[in-house]
Amino acid sequence: MSSLSITTRKSLMLFSGRAYPELADEVGKYLDVTVTPQSAYDFANGEIFVRFEESVRGSDAFLIQSCGVPINTWVMETLIMIDALKRASAKRITVVLPFYPYARQDKKHRGREPISARLISDLLKTAGAQRLMTVDLHTDQIQGFFDGPVDHLFAQPLLGGYIGKKYSGDDLAVVSPDSGRVRTAERWADRLGGAPIAFIHKTRDPSRPNQVVANRVVGEVKDRTCIIVDDMIDTGGTIAKAVKQVLEDGAKKVVVAATHGVLSDPAAERLAASGACEVVLTNTLAIPPSHQFEQLTVLSIAPLIAKAIHEVFEDGSVTSLFDN
Ligand code: R5P
Repeated sequence: MSSLSITTRKSLMLFSGRAYPELADEVGKYLDVTVTPQSAYDFANGEIFVRFEESVRGSDAFLIQSCGVPINTWVMETLIMIDALKRASAKRITVVLPFYPYARQDKKHRGREPISARLISDLLKTAGAQRLMTVDLHTDQIQGFFDGPVDHLFAQPLLGGYIGKKYSGDDLAVVSPDSGRVRTAERWADRLGGAPIAFIHKTRDPSRPNQVVANRVVGEVKDRTCIIVDDMIDTGGTIAKAVKQVLEDGAKKVVVAATHGVLSDPAAERLAASGACEVVLTNTLAIPPSHQFEQLTVLSIAPLIAKAIHEVFEDGSVTSLFDN
């Protein structure tokens, strides 16, 4: 006999980094798969050790890591876990990063700067990741940084569905906090039944990260419920200034919607005092109690991630999740 044939079975295995295991557990519940047990600890000098407690040989491995603070630790842990999966003969490794780290460094603004978003993709690939799944990239072109299939998921149906229902009786306007996110605002406007859009003309000082110099509203916001949309809220500076600006321009009330709640200090205080009646985020990143505030609503991204993982595992269609 010149060959031996066997029929193989695919097995989906779920893995979680230590950054936000609750999200992986929630995804697992939707998939009816428990997260694979592992030992993970830090050496005295900060080096990370991870070992899976079950065989992963031949598995279709999905590794979920929400890279919050300390972001560099969680990136390194992700790389180490991918390496462990690769060396333990996982058949396919998909890294699920609900929040893509370093996404804001996607181009050189001036000479002698890194393109760190590209570096992250290169590191993932070098470690052994074959596929990447992520939610609302800061810019779409980051998909091309990773040399392999990228499942780019969108939180807008989740956020927009919630807001569209809750504020259905209001005269809405969708506001982009900067000119770069106008296309996103257009998509929101479509979902919200053709609401008008506006944007904040924002001037930044390129030598000072997280600092906005000046704001001006372009578009009609007077007497409207303004939905300010962004991909992420970090220190809250951009959003707090945008809320203030649209209220000064006569907005009736302001709702903020963003996918990633990075919420570095003093974001919670800023958002709480911003004048927004509601701030709606997803849980792509953990939002600890110390970063929560009265107007905050957090919608779970877990069902969407679970559905996408299921489609990838079954060789189905991730795109179909976003049809209509
Ligand atoms: C900028 O391009 C991003 O979309 C966010 O608006 C920005 O990163 C938010 O940062 P912060 O909350 O610190 O103003």
